[in-house]
Amino acid sequence: MDYRALIDPVKTPKHIAIIMDGNGRWAKQKFARNRIFGHHNGVKAVRKTTEACRQIGVQYLTLYAFSTENWNRPSTEVNALMALLVQALEKEINDLEKNGIQLKAIGNLGDLPKATREKLEEGIYRTRNNKKLVLTLALSYSSRWELSNAIRQIAEDSKAGIIEPAAINDELISSYLETRDLPDPELLIRTSGEQRISNYMLWQIAYSELYFTKTLWPDFNEEQLYKAVWDYQQRERRFGKISEQITAK
Ligand code: FPP
Repeated sequence: MDYRALIDPVKTPKHIAIIMDGNGRWAKQKFARNRIFGHHNGVKAVRKTTEACRQIGVQYLTLYAFSTENWNRPSTEVNALMALLVQALEKEINDLEKNGIQLKAIGNLGDLPKATREKLEEGIYRTRNNKKLVLTLALSYSSRWELSNAIRQIAEDSKAGIIEPAAINDELISSYLETRDLPDPELLIRTSGEQRISNYMLWQIAYSELYFTKTLWPDFNEEQLYKAVWDYQQRERRFGKISEQITAK
């Protein structure tokens, strides 16, 4: 099926968040000697997915590239992933710049090795004026880490008299999160058949549609992205209201 042709441009999600999963299993399926082979091919899927989002006018794409918990993997894999990020950014920065893609990062970036952080900062700086699509990499990120920081900061600002406790509401909390410059995602995709959220954007996905696919991340591509968006467009988002209230609008 040509899902791209079926997509309604009026109902394209503004923000898609993705949990990229299954690189290790993909490598195993290919009888590769190590999991890094899967991560290398995962970068190709990042490229295809970003391009597909740009093609259909998605404005924000946020990828869970490395979680706080991922630091617990064997150091060979962690080091290889950090080096892969440098290599991928080196290769892609020119194209990001040329194609109107703005690079951003969320997470505890101070945890990253210097070379990775510097490449990332270079990419963020060089693409800062791009407007077509904001590509955010979640690195050393976890939602509970983000929420703990936000709550700590709100408590400090409240103690300092900068905010009134009575003024704490959804909007204020969102403004203390790493994602303060991004709208909430309408669609969250997770690949590889796992059906869990794994500490990703817990606050921001309150009303997101969830899409799980068995496809392993390195096999994810333009067509798969279009299919997920089409699937999302078939759903009715009610935000707690009843169906008639939505259609009457
Ligand atoms: C999950 O698969 C994948 C990761 C933890 C890393 C994802 C990173 C990339 C795709 C490369 C990032 C590059 C850029 C440019 C953003 P897994 O290792 O958990 O696979 P498994 O569940 O099959 O073991």
